[in-house]
Formats: sequence, structure tokens, C-alpha cells
Amino acid sequence: MNSTLDRHCNWKFEELRPNIMGIDTMVPILDGTRVPYVFLDNGASTPTFRHAFEVMGAFMPFYSGVHRGTGFKSILATQVFDEAHDLAGEFVNADLEHNTVIFVKNTTEAVNKLANRCDWREGDVVITTLMEHHSDDLPWRKHANVIHIGVDDKGYLDMAQLRETFARNAGKVRFLAATGASNITGIINPMHELAELAHANGAFMFVDAAQLAPHRAIDVLPDSHPGHIDFIAYSAHKMYAPYGIGVLIGPKEYFSTGDPDMVGGGVVDIVETDFVAYSAPPAREEAGSPNVPGAVGLAAAIHMLRKVGMDRIAEHEHTLVSYAIEKMKEVPGMRLYGPVEADELANKVGVISFDIDGVPHAKVAAILSAEGGIGVRNGCFCAHPYVKRLLKVDEATTKEITEEILGGDRTNLPGMVRASFGCYNNIDDVDRLVTMLHRIGNGEYRGDYELNRRSGTYWPKNFDYDFSSYFPHFSFRPTTSITEFTEAS
Ligand SMILES: Cc1ncc(COP(=O)(O)O)c(C=O)c1O
Repeated sequence: MNSTLDRHCNWKFEELRPNIMGIDTMVPILDGTRVPYVFLDNGASTPTFRHAFEVMGAFMPFYSGVHRGTGFKSILATQVFDEAHDLAGEFVNADLEHNTVIFVKNTTEAVNKLANRCDWREGDVVITTLMEHHSDDLPWRKHANVIHIGVDDKGYLDMAQLRETFARNAGKVRFLAATGASNITGIINPMHELAELAHANGAFMFVDAAQLAPHRAIDVLPDSHPGHIDFIAYSAHKMYAPYGIGVLIGPKEYFSTGDPDMVGGGVVDIVETDFVAYSAPPAREEAGSPNVPGAVGLAAAIHMLRKVGMDRIAEHEHTLVSYAIEKMKEVPGMRLYGPVEADELANKVGVISFDIDGVPHAKVAAILSAEGGIGVRNGCFCAHPYVKRLLKVDEATTKEITEEILGGDRTNLPGMVRASFGCYNNIDDVDRLVTMLHRIGNGEYRGDYELNRRSGTYWPKNFDYDFSSYFPHFSFRPTTSITEFTEAS
């Protein structure tokens, strides 16, 4: 089915960068000048496509509650909202006759919902991996015995251990839950091979596609295919669409029985004081008034990505990552994590994690920001076990550091720096990063950086931002120190 959005605009790859909101934002740096911001934290959240924002703007005069209204605006909004569900399913080639597309807040909520909706039995097992973001690990731990499959020194999944684990837990495994692509190493897992293994062992396959969806075309394959992905989730804010919406796709049947995860308005066909008949999914799983503008923005971003072509985006990102890695290898003291050889990069999304010998990861990130105007991220990126494994942090050290952190000192928090690319980043962005990394590696940065032990962060003395000259709509509270911002991972 061709979406009505498809009638508008044939986007070309070259139009992506100018379409990024804030692409030309100038930010202050330590030497008193302003430089164009380089955004290399796309793995956390991408900036927004102007197109998505404009389509949302065009929709807003018609904004109305969906499904229950009889007015013109409500009927229009309902059609748009329903169509956005279809587009989100078509984006991963889901069979929408047998599968439902549920809108949630984000991938985290999707995994929680999926785990909450399973009819768990005593002794059930979920196999997941050491590579997972906490969002595809902790929700399962609430319900089942979770087994984490290990990785090798580069971060690749241990397939032999996975097979053994299935064999050892025959009849007990309900889900194999794995990330489509790692938010630390960028490694793309062989999701269809994993699905075949899961199905051969009577388990469902869930793919956390939060990091994969913005970078690669995804095909969940027909339901009858042995490598079919049963459940998949992704987040709009990581794919150039704004505002708190995510997607969970899975068999209608799975969500059609039992109580919904959340109950309230919108999930029922009929309610008596002593009787409730729940609606069919997705409504059954979308309790309360939904994020209709978010759905519109997501649909518009998906439309743009599909028109440009995910393969074209993958090709560009591969060029960018290959270039970046080759250049980064020349930086003094550079340690790169994950796949770094040319022949490994086709199966890696645009995420590069690294550190520089002798310079704490938090300090590297601070220098990149304060002296380079470059936004990256540092720490453990909500994947603590994987980062510690890649850093080879042993158990005794982990215990010591845990004690320190619980005691309020995050100085020795293990971690890396992560540069993560989007479809709109270019070679100039990489060059800006590499130039700064050389300065750091050579000890040629200028600031006098102070450590805040409580947050584990660094910031140069006597350097503060005046946000009110950038965003005058808020009266910013004076910060005692920028390092007061604690790491949220
Ligand atoms: C691999 C992976 N899974 C899940 C998530 C969670 O996504 P969200 O914060 O949108 O729920 C992230 C976020 O960074 C991620 O990188």
C-alpha cells in the first residue's frame, strides 16, 4: 500500500543535511569564539528532520483526539494516526494482516510491554546477550531467569555459547532477545540466524532495533520464514523524528488475549461495573490519549528515509565510518573498541567507541565540547556489562568501583567516549573530530580541567555557558558548575 505521504516529495540523499534542524547552530568555545556545532551523539537522539517538523506543523490545526470523536478533525486525525501505524510497520516490512503495530513512548517501554504481556511460567528462561542496552535486559529480569550470552574481545556474540545455552535449557526458553545493532561497538547481529535458532528451540525472537532502524533497511521476513523476527521495537527520536514515540510490532495473537499491560481509556469495547471486554490490538495496548503529533512526525521521518533509501544511507555511513576509523587510528594513544578492520565495517553501524591513553574518558568528552564544539557522550552508555567486558575490567575492580560509586565518588567509573554518526554527518564533521583528538592525544588542549568527583565529569575552570542568549524563552537557573550534570546511564 502506498501511503498518502508518498504522494509528496521525492527526497534525495543530498537534501538530508540541509533538512536537519539546527545543522548550522553556532556554539561558544573556550577561546571566546563560536564554531558550528558538530553533533556526534546521534546514538542517543538524532536531531529532527525539518520535514517531519513541518508535517507536524501542518497537522496541528487539525489536531484532535482520535478514535472516539465524530467531528471532522477527529476523523482526520484518526485516519492519520492509523496510517502512521501502517507506515511504521511497512518500514520493517511487517505482515500487517497478522501483526500489530503498537505505539509506545520508546524502545524501553516497548520491551517492558512485551515482557509484561507474556504468560510466564515458573522456570521460564530468556536468553539475551552481554551486548544489550539495559532496556533489553532489565525488563526481562523482572519475570524470568535471564541468561546473558558472552562476547569476544571485539564484542561479537559467542554463537557457540548461544547454541549450548539453548541445548542446556531445552523447553524453557521463551524469548531470545538481542539487539539489532550495538550502541557501543555498532556491531550488527545476524538477526535472522538468531531467529532461526530461537524458532528451532521453540522460542520467540525479539530484536531491539533502536540502533539499527536509523541505519539499515530492516526486513522482518514473512511470518512463515524460519528467520522471521517475531517482535521488533524502535524509537522515533533516534531516527530524526521528534517527541516521545516508539514502536512495538508483533503478532496480533500475542496481544489479543489476557489483560492489557496498562488499562484505562481507549483499550475497551465495553465496560460494565463487573465486566470488561477489551478491544483488539493495537488499541488494547495503547491506553490513554495517544501521542498523535508524535505519530505524524514519525510517519514523515519514515517517509523521508524510505524515499532517500536506507541502502543509500548505509552506503554513506559506511564511507564515513571507514574514513573516521582510519583517521582515528593515527591519533596518539588512541584505543578503538569493536570492529576496526576495513573488512569488518560493512556490518557495523555508525558508532565508534574509543579512549585515549592517559586521558580519562570524561575529560576527553569535555575537551571535545569546550574546545571543539563537538557533542559526543562518554561513560558506559546504559550497557555497563558490555563496556566492562570490552574494557576487561575484572570482578575485583568492578566491586571496588561499585563501592566508590555507592559512596558518592564516580572518579573511576569505567567508560569510553562514543562518537555516533547520523545519515547527515559528513567528512568535515569527522575531520573536526580527528583534529581535536590529535590535540588531546598530544596534550595540546588549552583548558585547566577540574574533576567533579560526585558526577565523575570534567569541565574547564572559569568557563560557563550563557544559555539565555541562545534560548531566551526560559530563565535558566544559575548552575554552580556544569559538572553538576550527572551521568544518566
Ligand atoms: C540499543 C538500544 N536499545 C534501546 C535503547 C533505549 O531506547 P529509548 O531510550 O528510546 O527507549 C537504546 C538507547 O540508546 C539503545 O541504544
